[in-house]
Parts: sequence; structure tokens; C-alpha cells
Amino acid sequence: MLIKNALIENSEKPQDLRIENGVFTDIGKLEQQENEEVLDLNEQLLLPPFIESHVHLDTCLTAGDPCWNMSGTLFEGIECWSKRKEKLNPEDIRERVNKVVRMYAANGIQAIRTHVDVTDPKLMALKTILELKEELKDVMDLQIVAFPQEGILSYPNGKQLLIDAVKMGVDAVGAIPHFEFTREYSVESLNFALQLAADENKLVDVHCDEIDDEASRGLETVAVRALELGLYDKVTASHTTAMHSYNNAYVLRLMRLLKMSRINFVANPLVNTHLQGRIDTYPKRRGLTRVKELLAEGINVSFGHDDIFDPWYPMGNGSLRDVVFMGLHVGQMMGYEEIMNSYKLITYNAAKTLHIADHYGIEINKPASFIVLDAKNYYDALVKDAAVLYSYKNGKKIVANSPSKQNVLF
Ligand code: FE2
Repeated sequence: MLIKNALIENSEKPQDLRIENGVFTDIGKLEQQENEEVLDLNEQLLLPPFIESHVHLDTCLTAGDPCWNMSGTLFEGIECWSKRKEKLNPEDIRERVNKVVRMYAANGIQAIRTHVDVTDPKLMALKTILELKEELKDVMDLQIVAFPQEGILSYPNGKQLLIDAVKMGVDAVGAIPHFEFTREYSVESLNFALQLAADENKLVDVHCDEIDDEASRGLETVAVRALELGLYDKVTASHTTAMHSYNNAYVLRLMRLLKMSRINFVANPLVNTHLQGRIDTYPKRRGLTRVKELLAEGINVSFGHDDIFDPWYPMGNGSLRDVVFMGLHVGQMMGYEEIMNSYKLITYNAAKTLHIADHYGIEINKPASFIVLDAKNYYDALVKDAAVLYSYKNGKKIVANSPSKQNVLF
């Protein structure tokens, strides 16, 4: 198959791409071969597929059931979810996850890292989502984090549940240090989770310091364990919103360790703008971690949705465009190049976080997975909320949308 006239990753010059057996075999100015199928993009934007680097598929589409989170805090969200968990059954999980995966696919996402709550003695959601991972693999790559929502040391049998989850075949080990009962538990939970990951050769993704408490310092423990255990970029710190509130002298010291540790960061601009700063009067903190400063230090940061219509976030549609749009505003990253290159936050940077970068990107000999947007470049796509016209995965078309057209009759 030949793709003609693609504007690859903001390039101004159209190029052609040849796909054979699901792989890019040539990129440049190419001639159609005999009987070759052609798709002419007429100078539309072609990007590597979007990647969701942080979401909770098991909780999606449950907002208001059985209660709405009226305070808008993380902690009331956890209380609401604790009640909803009692009603979980495999059919309920299957129906919601299938629906959300299709919402994501329609928006050009081809890989998702999902956290799955393992503070459940039956591990029901985990079992079901492991099955769905296999069933959906041709259309969506699911990466699963064993996420101890109610703590490792602060939940009955929490350590054993995490071990059981790892043995069932998750990709990554999680932790939630800011939710543990004490600072000592917080540190011990991280030591336990990262050692478990090292022993079992798993990735790590910690819900780290998702709180406005400047004394919440799980991050330094995550980074030092990543360094000392040699896990490095297999480790990700998600949220790190307390870093927003750290004093600058501490951050200066911390940055050295973060760079040495080579860990990844995931920020979730929609959800943390909504959840954080809730106990502030005025001024109200924005709640987003220090994205701009981390990127300036060469540290990998990606953006995630986190929640879609659940106890922590009453909106969301599976479009990472909204995530990037909000993140650029709240993080004050609105310079021309910052806007133009912001697709990297949900493509290449996210691929690094998921540890799939070796098989990702628009390059010869890599899988022919890509998306086409109804726009000339990513700046244009962001501003006009451009439709994802096509999504191809390993050379196979999995999504075809119509361009959104407005007909103003004057
Ligand atoms: Fe999360």
C-alpha cells in the first residue's frame, strides 16, 4: 500500500510512505507500483498513534453510581469508588471497558496504560481486564498496572494482593504512598513495590504524591529506589502534584536525583486541575506538577487522561487533544514551538513511559501504525480540534472518521 502526500509530523513538504506486510518499507517521493493500493492524503497531518499513558479503565463510566463526588477531592472519589466496587461484576467491567476502548480508538489512540485497582480480595477487575487485553490486542495495546488504590500497608492483606496481581501477569507494579496511613508506611510501601518489580522484572508506575501537601515526598523515595535497584526508566512517577507546592530550594536538590534516576513522569492536567487546590481559599493552586521545568531538565514527561466519567472526574471523552490543550494552558507552555511540538507529550514521550519506543514511530522497518488528522500541523489540529480521519495499526485500517464540517450560510 502507498500513502501519498502526507505531512509527516509537522513537516511542510508532503511525503509518501510504502507499507508492506504491516511495516513501513519506504518513505520519500515514491511512485505507485502496479496494482498497488493508494491512499492520497492531500497534504494532511500524519502522526504516530496517540498513546494514553495513564487511565483507570476499571472505574470509567461510573460517575454518580452510587454517589457523586460533591467535594471534588481525591479522597471523596476514593470513598465513592469503594462503594461502587461492591457492585463490580465481570459483565459490568467488560461493557464499560469495551465502550471506553472504542472511544479512545476513535480519537487515534492505539496503546493504553491502565491502572487496575487490586485492593479487592477477588481481584475481579484485574482478571477481567487481563482477558480483555488479549481479546483487544489487534486494535489496542493494553498495558496493565497493579494499582493498590487503598494502599499496600494500609489495606488488609495489601502486600499479598499486590504479589498475587503480579503473578497473574500485569506489566507494572503500582503504589500510592500519599494514601498510606503514615510517612513510614509510605516509604515502606515504595520499598516493597519497587523491590517486587525488580525481582519479577516488571515496570513500575506509582501514583506519587497526588496531594497538595508540600510534605508529601514519596517522589524522592521512588527516584532513589529506581537508581539503586537499577530500574531507571522502567519507573514512572504519575501525578506528583505535591511537587507543585514544594519549596524551590528542595526542588533544586531533588532535580539532581531525578535526572540521575532517569524516571519518567506522567501529568494528568484535566483531572489534577479539577481535584487539586480544593482546600485552598485564594490564591488556589493549579495542582499540576512542574511539567515545564522537568522537560527543561531533559526529563521525560507525558500527559494522560487519568479518568473518564468516574468518581474522580465527571467528564472526559477519550480525546487526548483536550488533555494536551488543558496541560499547555495550566503549565503555561504556550510558545509557538511548545504548542507545535506538544503532540510529543502523547506520542513519543508516552512511548518512552510505556517502554515501547523501539517499535514506535514513523520510520522505515517500524510497524506501520499511524494516524491522519484533518489539519496541516499539530498547532492547527489543536486549535480547530481536528478530527482523526484514519487510524492504521500494523498496516491495518482500524478507524475511519469523517472530517467535521461546519456550514455557515452567510
Ligand atoms: Fe490515576
